[in-house]
Amino acid sequence: MIILKAYAKINLGLEILYKRGDGYHELNTMFLRTCLADDLLFEQDDDITVSSFPDMGIPQEDNLVYKATILLKENFPDTPGCKIHLKKNIPSGAGLGGGSSDAAITLKGLAALWNIVPNSSMLHDIASRLGSDVPFFLSDGAAIARGRGEKLKHFEFTSPWWIALIKPNISISTAWAYQHLDHDLVQRTPSDLKEIIKKSLLDPNILKKKVFNHFEGSILRKFPQIKYIKEKMYSEGAILSLLSGSGSTVFGLFESQVLCESAISHFDNYFTYICPPHK
Ligand code: C5P
Repeated sequence: MIILKAYAKINLGLEILYKRGDGYHELNTMFLRTCLADDLLFEQDDDITVSSFPDMGIPQEDNLVYKATILLKENFPDTPGCKIHLKKNIPSGAGLGGGSSDAAITLKGLAALWNIVPNSSMLHDIASRLGSDVPFFLSDGAAIARGRGEKLKHFEFTSPWWIALIKPNISISTAWAYQHLDHDLVQRTPSDLKEIIKKSLLDPNILKKKVFNHFEGSILRKFPQIKYIKEKMYSEGAILSLLSGSGSTVFGLFESQVLCESAISHFDNYFTYICPPHK
């Protein structure tokens, strides 16, 4: 039996550069792993079964964990089946990459369970077929992502901030969010997010001035509850507060646990979570 954690991410900046000929959008973003995670349990079996708690209410064939299993098996047809149990702690439709992280960790968990060694380019290829941000979750650390989110430059980053995550009772599909983008606000020249984040360690004020999420224009207009969370994060002293991915989670970076806890205390009816600074 193998047990692994699948961590959620936030986007420290998400710039949509342009719409491509293939319908996808060219991105510039920084992915940062959080401490919030799903738990995955892998066991040998003859068939392939995926279960989840709480039940996700979708056929197993629609679960990215199942799709990841099938794609890996296509490359290694002699492998047996497996039983995968998913304990969902990361909310769905939240912009936290939960489903993508589960899919990436499934590829790693099954490789260990089946005793196979897929090379890194095969893993990356399968991951990017499963979803644009799945490849990020194959490696540790932070990353700058370009392309549709799959072209990665990983780097070590020790977050000095407390992170508050607040998700209202709204789920947003990524495809929907891209369809409803505010095209007027789209910026074409990518910022050097890695450099900005590095500089912010000396001067935290630059984060609010230079780090944006281009989904915010349309999403905050459509969902005033999300705008309210962002405003509350700032009135509680956040250094930066942004929508994560295409939402609906808003994260806040704080200098202390007390400020972070005070920020989430206003949202008892919402999903909230706090992550300490990296050690
Ligand atoms: O790749 P993924 O399955 O996560 O994407 C879901 C949808 O979001 C895509 O079908 C596409 O409509 C949109 N998308 C996009 N540009 C990206 C990533 C996703 O337009 N960079």
